[in-house]
Amino acid sequence: MSKQPVSRRQFLNYTLMGVGGFMAAGMLMPMVRFAIDPVLAEGAAGEFQTTNQKVDELTSTPVRVDFSYEQQDAWYTSEVTETAWVYKDENGEVVALSPICKHLGCTVNWEGDNNENQFYCPCHGGLYEKNGNNVPGTPPTAPLDKYPTKVKDGFLQLGKPEPQTIA
Ligand code: FES
Repeated sequence: MSKQPVSRRQFLNYTLMGVGGFMAAGMLMPMVRFAIDPVLAEGAAGEFQTTNQKVDELTSTPVRVDFSYEQQDAWYTSEVTETAWVYKDENGEVVALSPICKHLGCTVNWEGDNNENQFYCPCHGGLYEKNGNNVPGTPPTAPLDKYPTKVKDGFLQLGKPEPQTIA
């Protein structure tokens, strides 16, 4: 068997291709990660968080439910706390509303400032009906977002709040 000697030119070609490939991979990796990140994030958005609220204990009066979970953002993990106003409607269905005002993002309160049977935003006097619909003539121009809900072992689970349209 004859050994084929590697010429200086071939050696340089192989070496440069290797180094070039390594550098190209280093540049492409972040771009690929950037491109597929929304796909990964979408998976996370579909997650439900378990709260300490027992569904059996819910009534027709909205209660404030706070819940926390860990959020992974690239290499950084942080604890996020969110809130929902939760009650059972006339059909016994669980309704969970985001407390974030659709005007400028303040937090709304159930029956705040003596507004009976309504959510009240203290920042600019925004009002919402119990189902989250914004009251015309007050600053908010859209209904409160609504959490998708599930029940696990008797406890309420909440997904990511979504905009709702109320006729
Ligand atoms: S932020 Fe709620 S009314 Fe302005």
